[in-house]
Amino acid sequence: MRAGPELESLPFVSKLRVGVLVSHNGSNLRALHRAASQPEAPFEVVAVISNNSGSPGLAYARENRIATRHLSGRTHPDPEQLDSAICATFVGHSVELIVTAGYMKKLGPRTREQFAPRILNIHPALLPRFGGPGMHGNHVHQAVLDSGDSVSGPSVHIVEDEYDTGEVIAQLEVPVLADDTVDTLAARVLTAEHTLLPLVVQQIATRQMSVGQRRL
Ligand code: GAR
Repeated sequence: MRAGPELESLPFVSKLRVGVLVSHNGSNLRALHRAASQPEAPFEVVAVISNNSGSPGLAYARENRIATRHLSGRTHPDPEQLDSAICATFVGHSVELIVTAGYMKKLGPRTREQFAPRILNIHPALLPRFGGPGMHGNHVHQAVLDSGDSVSGPSVHIVEDEYDTGEVIAQLEVPVLADDTVDTLAARVLTAEHTLLPLVVQQIATRQMSVGQRRL
């Protein structure tokens, strides 16, 4: 069947297919999925993988009928097989962009080679400060408080071999207040993450920001 002239003149729009990895709460996954559920959203969350079978993020994805898999050292004791299973899951769902959103494990070389540079991570501080091994969750916010810095905020960066080393593509600053505790600072940064991450993915999907060639 041929489309009428009015349909032929419409540009073909395919949504960017996003795969997400989570370990625990999954509030960034929820922020991404909320943004993807808006009318005209240029991306969709098509698969969620967690290393933690009890992750609330995984439960959220199941409740929202997103394809899910629990893949971990328990399901795949051999790291190479785990890497292959993660890679095959995302390839199987035709994922175009991977987001590690509170994923506390390293991605294996196979997944990185298949998808690089289209793998993003969100980190809860202004990289390159406060990144690297051991710098996750509350450790990051404690280090920021100890430093006396007056600003913090999330960074979105491209994932490379080492923790938190890839190119930073977006950041959002929030103030560090004199009476902040780890919990109050973490909450302020997390709220900023929920703004920043969907915005970055949206800009990649609409090609206002580029991370390598988007496969169509
Ligand atoms: C977020 O603050 C994220 O930046 C951080 O874990 C939290 C996950 O929250 N990631 C890291 O520390 C990784 N280095 P969420 O599960 O509610 O999205």
